[in-house]
This record gives sequence, C-alpha cells and structure tokens, in this order.
Amino acid sequence: MKTTRTLTRALALFLTLGASLASAAAVAAEPAIRHLAKRNVWLINLAGSQYALGLTKEKELVHLWWGAKLPAGDYERGVVARIPVRSGFPEAVERYELPPWGGAHQIEPALKLRFADGVRDLRLAYAAHEVVGENELVINLADPHYPLQVAVHYRAHPRFDVLERWVVLKNTGSQPIDIEQALSAAWHLPLHERWTFRYLAGFWGAETQVRDVELQHGKFQIESRRGATSHQFNPWFAVRPTGETAEEQGEVWFGSLAWSGCWKIAAEVTSNGRLQVLGGIHDFDFSWRLAAGESFTTPAFVGGYANEGMGGVSRRLTAYQLAAVLPQPQAGQLRPVIYNSWYATEFSVNAAQQIALAEKAKLLGVELFVMDDGWFGQRKDARAGLGDWTPNAEKFPQGLKPLTDAVHGLGMKFGLWVEPEMVNPDSDLYRAHPDWVFHFPTRPRTQKRHQMMLNFARAEVREHIFQVLDRLLTDSPIDFIKWDMNRHVTEAGWMEAPAEQQREVLVRHVRAVYEIFDRLRARHPQVLWETCSGGGARVDLGIFQRTDQAWASDNTDPLDRLQIQEGYTQAYAPKTMVAWVTDNPDTINKRDTPLTFRFHCAMMGALGVGGNLLKWSEAEMSQTRFWVETYKAIRPLVQEGQLYRLRSPRTSAFSAAEYAAADGSAAVVFAFLQASSMGKPTPPLALRGLTPEAVYQVEAIVPPGVTAPLAPHQASGAALMAQGLTLKLRGDYASALVRLTRLP
Ligand code: DGJ
Repeated sequence: MKTTRTLTRALALFLTLGASLASAAAVAAEPAIRHLAKRNVWLINLAGSQYALGLTKEKELVHLWWGAKLPAGDYERGVVARIPVRSGFPEAVERYELPPWGGAHQIEPALKLRFADGVRDLRLAYAAHEVVGENELVINLADPHYPLQVAVHYRAHPRFDVLERWVVLKNTGSQPIDIEQALSAAWHLPLHERWTFRYLAGFWGAETQVRDVELQHGKFQIESRRGATSHQFNPWFAVRPTGETAEEQGEVWFGSLAWSGCWKIAAEVTSNGRLQVLGGIHDFDFSWRLAAGESFTTPAFVGGYANEGMGGVSRRLTAYQLAAVLPQPQAGQLRPVIYNSWYATEFSVNAAQQIALAEKAKLLGVELFVMDDGWFGQRKDARAGLGDWTPNAEKFPQGLKPLTDAVHGLGMKFGLWVEPEMVNPDSDLYRAHPDWVFHFPTRPRTQKRHQMMLNFARAEVREHIFQVLDRLLTDSPIDFIKWDMNRHVTEAGWMEAPAEQQREVLVRHVRAVYEIFDRLRARHPQVLWETCSGGGARVDLGIFQRTDQAWASDNTDPLDRLQIQEGYTQAYAPKTMVAWVTDNPDTINKRDTPLTFRFHCAMMGALGVGGNLLKWSEAEMSQTRFWVETYKAIRPLVQEGQLYRLRSPRTSAFSAAEYAAADGSAAVVFAFLQASSMGKPTPPLALRGLTPEAVYQVEAIVPPGVTAPLAPHQASGAALMAQGLTLKLRGDYASALVRLTRLP
C-alpha cells in the first residue's frame, strides 16, 4: 500500500513535467495496482491494458473492466463502477469475479462447496485486501456465516499485458469442508454482440490444431478428463469479436492454464449476452476434503489482452514464458541441437550402435545426443520393462558409462528417455508392487500400450520414483531427460484412502509429478528437461514451470507439422517447441519430402535430427551439416525473436513465418510451397517488425550449388513491409529461408 501511494505521487509529479512525454513514459511510471478507496475499485494497469474490480453495495466482488486502458477518472466519476448494482440482479450476479454457487447465481460457478452441516450454498463478501510488492493484489473474501476464507490472487506482468490469477481457500473452522469445484478464475469479457472462441484441438499425431467456433448462448467447454493435459484439447483459449480475423490487428483476450491434470475451460454466454470464461481443475470426478485449518491452492489461470491480433497474443505469451514461467537459468539459454534415437532404432538400442550414431551426430554439429526408449529393464518392445530404470544388461553390459563417456568424449551432452509414471505388467516393479497402479479392486486394469499408470498420490510410490530418478542422475553424467507419458489414466481408484478423499487422487498425482520435478531440479540444477506425452499431450504452463522444452508431436511429416507448429506457437514459445528432421517416408502419412523442406520446418523451433544416420548418404550428411550450422547462426532469432505468422498453412498451400529481432536489426523468413498450381508465382510476403527507414541486406540461404529463390539485394524496411518479399518458388515441397540484416 505504501509503495503504491509513493508511486502515485511520483507519477503525478512526472506528469506535470510535460504532457507530451506522458503517454509512453507514464506506462512505465504508473503503479501496476491502484486502489480507488472512495469507489471501492481496484485497478490493475498493464502496459497496454487494464483490469478493474469493484464491490457491490453488499460488498460482493465484481468485475468492472478488462481491455484497453481507461482513465482512472472514469472510475472516480463512476462511469465504469456504476454498472454493478444490487446483489441478486444479473448485472451483479453475472459479474461475480469469483462466482460462488449460491444465492441467485445460476451460471457456471468457480466455487462449489459443501459445509460440514450439509449446507451447499456459498456466499462471499469482501473482507480485506493487500498489495504484495508492486505487482500482486490479494483480495480476501469470507463467508458471512461459515469459517471459510477465500483469497483471490492477481499477479500482474505489466510488460506482457498478462495477469496470473489463482485462489487460496482456507478452512478456518474446526469442521471439514468439501470442495466440489474450485476453478482458478472467471474472466469476464466486455459486452459484445458476437464472440469467436479459438482453441487448440487434436489427437495423437495431430496436436494443437487451430479451431475457431462462434459462441452461442449457453456453454462451450474444452477439457481433459484423462488425468493429464491431453492431445484432444490444450488448456489455452483466445476470444475476439466475430469477424475480426486479422493476424496482426484487433483486440484479443486470451488465457492459459498452469495445470497438467484434468482441467476445463468453459465459455458461457448468458441470456443477457455476457461472456464469462472460467477455468481450472476439472470438477469431473473431483472433490477435496478441506480439513480444519487446511488450505487449498488452485493452479494459476493466466489471462491477457492484446490489440495486435493473434500475433500480439503469441508474442506476449512467448515473452511472458521466457521471463516468468520457464525455469531459470535455462530459460535464458539457447536450446541445443538434439539428436534423438527413437525413429532410428526404436526399442533395439545397444551401446555400440548408439555410439556409432553419436559419432555420426557429432559430424553434423549436434550438441546433445539423446538415447530414447529401449535402454532399461527387459525392454525389448512395448510389452516389458517400464518401471525398471536400470540399464538392460544385454544391451549395456557395462552400464551406461561407455556410452556417456563416448558422447561426452565427442564433445556433446548426453540425454536419456524415461517414463516414470508407468509400469508394464511384465516388470520387476509391478511384480513386487501390483497395488501401486491406479485400479479398482473389482475391475480389470485397462492396459494401453501394454502399460499401467502408477498412483503418485501414494507417498511410497512417489518417493520410490524420486529415489530412482535421483540415483540415475547421481550415478551417471546425464545432462538431459525426456520425461514421457504414453497413456492416460483409467480406473482412477485410490481405495486405501478414506472415502471422502478418494476423488482427490488425480490432483494429488499431478502435484506429486510437480514435486518430483521440483526436487530433482533442485538437486540436479544443470539438467535440461523435456516434457513429452506420446508427443504433445503434456504441454501447458504448469509443466513449463518445471521443464524447458516439449516434444510437440510424434508427427514429423513437415506438411502436417506446419499446422501443428502454427497451433503450438499460438500459445507457447518457439524456443520450447522441439522439432526433428526424420527419414523419408515419415511414419504417419508415409510421405516423402525433400530434406531441405524438412529442415526448414524443423528449424522454426528447437531443431533436432531423428533419422537413422547409419544409413544416411554423404549428400544427406553434408546438407544436414549445412542446415545445422545455419540454424546455429539464426537460432537466437528463432528462439528469442518476435514471431510473425505471415501466411497460414491452414488456409493456403503457400505459407510463411518471420522471426525478427525485437529491435528490428535482423530477421529470418521461412516460406513453404506445398505444390505449385497453374504456374502461378507465389504472392509477395509483406514483412513485419523491421525499421522502416533502415536498409536491409536480403539474401536467401541455400547450400552451395543450389539456385537461390531470390537474388541477394538491398531494400528498405519500408519496402519490405509494404511491397514485400517476392520469392521464386516452384514445384512440390519447395521452401526458402531468407535472412535480412539491417545495414549500419
Ligand atoms: C512417445 C514419444 O512421443 C516418442 O518420441 C518416443 O519417445 C516414444 N514415446 C518412445 O516410446
């Protein structure tokens, strides 16, 4: 509070110095959180947006505004704060900042509880508030009758127009309270006639496909009931007024959940035409016994506002993730070029063969060699071994040492694949502890890929897995772990727990996964972690607080990948998006594509190579060397630059994306032509993010002897952004990589 007042005075003084300077500089000087005490209004000011809350006469916390910045005077004058009136009226009820199920509230609630006496009607009123540091606001609500405190948390990230919201429920009485639904936030959108909701949907090998749906009265929900984030939907959304489709223009409101278990995001348009978007841990098959004195903290639901279309959303989320989500110090480091053995050798790995692959990988410029599945227990195929995390004695008679020595001796880092939540029935672990898996005693145990899932809600199970992984990392010099999860939960039984706690099991499991990551990261801080779940089924802001990158999909067909990657980068930083170049034909569509096309596609994220190098020709090896070297040169732009999607692969056979330095000093453009048609030239690509008055050196990067799709030349930023870049691309699967360098 004190800090807030001091900053307000400083801002007032500053503004008197010169109104002309005000708009840009005031953003920096303005306090993120302001309390307009007379009006009972809280303002959260972000660089280009504002979020406001207020109280009704009955002291219920209601939402006032989320969008473009409004002058504080409008709140003082009551222009904004006047709207919510009396409790029980839709104007107030439909604006509850954290809607409780109780009273007149009949749309999707955020909170639904059962008190010890059986009462299931929840009322919340303002009790107190606190400003923590400069950017965090906590509003404490309390039930007027029952001993329950609800702290509504807001952490502002002003630079990115992003707000983290979460809730802490505390039982201050002596009787238990049962939580039936505890969502992290309700986001209220300004009144607008028609809204279009964007989400990411898919299935195995087809993750993060962009979908747009126009919302109608009623509820539209995306969700996972699978105990994990899922291939089917990703916990991210964006809404914009229907009809606004420009990639780089227009207002967009967006949100992303930091949770890797069952989740839901529900967009509800009320009969009064208001849109609220709620999200958090799924209430499906969930309840939580909040014992006397205990608290329950929801995961964060991150929300943001951009007024530069979907491009503005992605760039904000990327910057936010690099600065505030991904683990440090790795977040600030460039991701290495990976070789991964999976597509080359599948389960049939052994020391000599992996060393031979590593020697080849080194010749390509690879920096991190990863041995995937197949190295442990009795793992001959998918039927055995999961759970027994010691090297297979036939494949690795001297353990991992000869391989780790060889890889390190070649000057590369060494990485290993694990799938810690799983067991095969044919494993020593399962034989010793058949009760450690999720199950109901009277039901068969469903197997998927011949495996079952360990129940980490059990303390001895999670401790065992922590110890096994800790030993693995202690005994061998491992620099990288890929943590996979190839099936999702069925028969989520936890029958040894008290009946009223059994439906906590999936939340406890996810919390235990997080805890294991956190403990391992603390003990082995140098290790880089990759999240994987049969491809990209565990990609979310919760896992990204603990892992550095993600395997986005098992689909490596570059044509499909362009779409998967376009969806992925709506919500997540390109730096986290691992993409490998694999052999022809790809495993999903059986399509052959040129090596260059495959490289260009994979170079748009964190590049990897996944082909069987033992069979590669010298021509393939030398082309790959060229592209790996090129990637290293442009990697800072791809991994840390500003992404502009110039043309979508969903809507056109000719797509392109640009990665530009934030200061406009350099950029690269990737362009892809699936197939020429009628001999038509490809249309010019109007670039973005350049300095209009500067002159750029423009050149296509091609391996020696290959004809470039564009002659080297110089052009102004203005011309490149207005007239655009014209490429000569013809044929099938033609692609180009163009570098732009600002001249001094
Ligand atoms: C699924 C992953 O997505 C693949 O990359 C590979 O690691 C396999 N699992 C191994 O079983």
